[in-house]
Formats: sequence, C-alpha cells, structure tokens
Amino acid sequence: MDARWWQGAALYQLYVRSWQDSDGDGYGDLRGILSRLGYLQWLGVDGIWLSPTMPSPDEDWGYDVSDYRGVHPDLGTMDDLDELIAQAGRRGMRVLLDLVPNHTSTAHPWFVESASSRQSPLRDYYVWADPAPGGGPPNNWLDFTGRSAWRWDDRTGQYYLHNFLAAQADLNWWQPAVHEEFRRVLRFWFDRGVAGFRIDVAHGLYKDALLRDNPPAGQQGPLAGRFGLRSEYNENRPEVHAVYRAWRAIADRYTPPRLLLGETWVGELDRFASFYGADDELQLAFNFPFVFAEFAAADLAAVVAGTLAALPPQGCPVWTASNHDVGRFPSRWCGGDDAKVRLALLVLATLPGTLVLYYGDEIGMTDVGVPLELQQDKMSLGSGQNGSSGEGGQNGGSTDGNGWQGNRDRARTPMQWDGSVAAGFTRAAAPWLPTGDSATVNVADQRDDPGSVLSLCRDLLSLRRAESGGQLASYQPLPAPPGGWAYRAGSLTVLANFSDRPVTCQDPGRPILLSTTGATPAAGDAAGDILLAPWQGIVARTAGVPPAPGRR
Ligand code: NOJ
Repeated sequence: MDARWWQGAALYQLYVRSWQDSDGDGYGDLRGILSRLGYLQWLGVDGIWLSPTMPSPDEDWGYDVSDYRGVHPDLGTMDDLDELIAQAGRRGMRVLLDLVPNHTSTAHPWFVESASSRQSPLRDYYVWADPAPGGGPPNNWLDFTGRSAWRWDDRTGQYYLHNFLAAQADLNWWQPAVHEEFRRVLRFWFDRGVAGFRIDVAHGLYKDALLRDNPPAGQQGPLAGRFGLRSEYNENRPEVHAVYRAWRAIADRYTPPRLLLGETWVGELDRFASFYGADDELQLAFNFPFVFAEFAAADLAAVVAGTLAALPPQGCPVWTASNHDVGRFPSRWCGGDDAKVRLALLVLATLPGTLVLYYGDEIGMTDVGVPLELQQDKMSLGSGQNGSSGEGGQNGGSTDGNGWQGNRDRARTPMQWDGSVAAGFTRAAAPWLPTGDSATVNVADQRDDPGSVLSLCRDLLSLRRAESGGQLASYQPLPAPPGGWAYRAGSLTVLANFSDRPVTCQDPGRPILLSTTGATPAAGDAAGDILLAPWQGIVARTAGVPPAPGRR
C-alpha cells in the first residue's frame, strides 16, 4: 500500500501562521502544530501540507522564499520541523511542504547576485529583458495586481519579470543550472523525511522564449486569464513537463516514494490531466475546474466525469474546495448554510481519489470579513481585491481580476479552537489576523457533539478509510432526478440532494452508513424509492460489494 500511499488519503492543508500559536506572538508556528497533532490523528487525516515554512521577507507570506533549505524563524527551527516529521510519523501522518519553484524573493542571494551586474554568473537564473523597441516594458504581461509584470532595474538597465509581486522575481527555467538547484532542494528535504511537496504555480515555470504578448482572454472567469489577458505565454508552456518527469524520477527513488502535488491552475481538464504524464510526472494535481464548479449536482457531476475521463490509467484525482487563495467552501459554495456544508463534505469525502481539506473545513469555518486596516495580503490590496471600492492595480476592483475572487485574508484567519476571544489560537492580545465567529463555530463545542459538522467529517474520514482502504475506488454515476446526484464509489453508494425540495431516489439498500441529517430518509411513494430531504446526502454500502482490503 505504501507505494501509492497518497491514493485515497485524506490530506489536511494547514496555514501555519493561522493554526496554533505556541509562543504568544500572535502567529501560528511549528510547535503549535506539534501541540495539536493529537487532534489531527483523532480527526483521521493521513498527511498534512504546511503552507510555506522557508525563510522569507513575507511580502507574500512565505511564497517569496529567500532560502530553500531553511525554516522561517517566525515559525520555528529546523529541529522543530524534524520533530514534527518524526512525531507526525509516529501518529501515522506524513508531512508535505510547500515548494515555490516559479520565483524567489528578490532578497534571495541568487537574485541579489543576478541583479549585481549583467556579467553576473547568475544573471540567467532570472528572466531579464531589454525594453520594447519603442521603450517601456518588453511585452504586455501583467502581474497578479494587474500592473506590468516587468520591473525596471536602473543599475543594470534591464527589466526583470515578476508574475506575482515585484518582490517575487520569476526564475528562468531555460537555464539548466536552475533545474540542478531545485533537484538538490528536492533531495535535501526528501532526505530529511519530508513526504513530498505541494508545488506552487506548477503550470507556470517556463515562459515563452520569445516573450510574446499574451492574447486577450476572450471570456471571463477565474480560470480564463487575468485582467483580460489569457496567460498563454507567461505560463502554461509545454516544456514544464520535462521538469516533473525528472522530479518524479527523484521522488520514486525514495521509500516510500515522495509525493508531488501540483498547484495546476488550468481551466481545461485535458491540460490538467497532462500534468500526470503517463504516470511519470506529478502523482496528484489540484483540480481547479472542480474548485470553481457551481455547487449544483449537474455541474459537479459533469466535472467529476470529465476529470475521470481525462486522467491517465492510475491517475488519482484530488478533491478540494477551499484554500488560502480562493476562500472557504462553506462560504463560496454554501453561503454558510449548515446543511449544504454537510453535503459538500459528504461528496468531497466519498469521491474516489485523494481528499484535501483546508483547516477549518471540518468545522464549517466560513470566510471572515477582515476590515481594510487589518488586512495583510499585499496582493489583494495591490489589485484592489480587498473588499473595498477599487483602488490599486490598473484593473483595481474589476471582477475580471487575478482569479482569486476577493481578498485572500478572508480565508487565512486563525483556526477556531474554542469560543474564547482569541479562539484558543494565541495568548497574544491580538492575533495577526482577526478571528471569525469562534463563539458559534469552534472545535471544542463540536468535538463531543455527535451531531456536529466535525463529528460528521470525522465519521466520513473513518468511513472512507474503512471502505476504500487507500485504494482508488471505481466510480459509476447512477440515475438521479434533477437536483440529485447519485453514484457508486467502490463499495459505497452515495445519494445527494442538491436542491431545496425533497427528491425521490432509488433506495440504495442497506446498511445506510451515514446521513448528513442524522436521519434515515423516508420511504418514497413507490416501492423501492426513498425521499431525500432538501440538501440531504446519504452513504450506503452497495449490496454485494465488500469494502476494499488495505489500510485501516
Ligand atoms: C499560489 C499560492 O497559492 C499563492 O498564495 C501565492 O501568492 C502565489 N502562488 C505566488 O507564489
């Protein structure tokens, strides 16, 4: 089972700065995580993905790395990280780090050297270019605030590329030495026992060699492009696949194999699936068409069917619906409605493949309206996507923004452990971001309540472990009335009502293992029918199909 340990696993994304503060500075840290490992084990997760832990000036909260081999002093020490890997391992959980290979901080020694002169031996580590023939930036590429992605450097008389903030200089992946640097970084962490990486901007490393202008986006939407342009030439280049084939060869040399989980921000399912290669690139890739699907039976079912059809044999899908960029699904999909949150969790946990929960999903934490004066995310502030009227970027306030659809601080607020003022997150007078409504939604209240969202989530994780045993279950859609979604996933039959009305479905048989309302559905009018309540979901064991053997 260990050979593909991520298959069918439940992973938990943990925004380190917001999960548990151990030293009272208002920021979460590694020792805070150590103190809460028992909770994660109790919840039943198989692995945790830590948001960036490497040293960084924090222009983009760790996504601007200044040292790929260290631990950010605000978060702890290398010893803390080693201890976290060891202690998590003893509890049956693996630790993934966040790797940022698309760009570095401009404070990284590579950039400092590269920017020192045109003759620098590291000049080609970054994307430097002369002004356009008529003057001004080399082309029309825009960064994530909607401004030009090129920053003029007076000292050496060229522009450098930054697809994100100006403090995040894009690396030049046409330079073989950059490949060698990252292969060494991979081995460094894999040798320390890191189970794998979530790879930031996995689709973006290569840029067009001719630096051609991006075309107009044509359509709107979070995956269509940014600020009216389609990201054809500043990311999404085919050469990136060779990088992942090389990384996969490295990952496969370890026991157990190390995991590469890509942030593949692409809109087309065939392009998304291409990151799995012929089972020789990434083992897992985030599915943004699913993330951005409407919370409606037909839409979700269509993306699931399309995903499974597009993936290569052995390709393991990933189901996730919240993260630190796009926001929390209890808000995005469910508008804070408890019944919908339960249904979403049921679907996420029963689809075949790997589940990635974002911290707080398990208690139904919603986005938090962070007042402008407390906001921390420079990218949101710079693009005008800060919840205030449009200011900043050249398209500030436009709905046609960078795809994150709002101020990212909303989903980065402290974990709500209990109902106290600082939510049990910190003993500091003020956490780095304000807490949400922890009096109403928190772990302590839900933990011992068998009817809570947390208990449902825990039951779902235990059920998927027991039934699919870490195998990639088969998927088969079943007939369902409008608003309903019914499918078989391995030994399970799932019926879900995505509507405000009761719907009639064919009785899946017994036993019914779980119901989002806690109640067994009523019998329908006709024999063999059952009636699902609005937004109710149930899971039954398919008659004659035993649970898969394997991990328990
Ligand atoms: C994607 C990350 O998820 C996001 O938070 C970050 O700002 C950008 N990549 C740049 O690293």
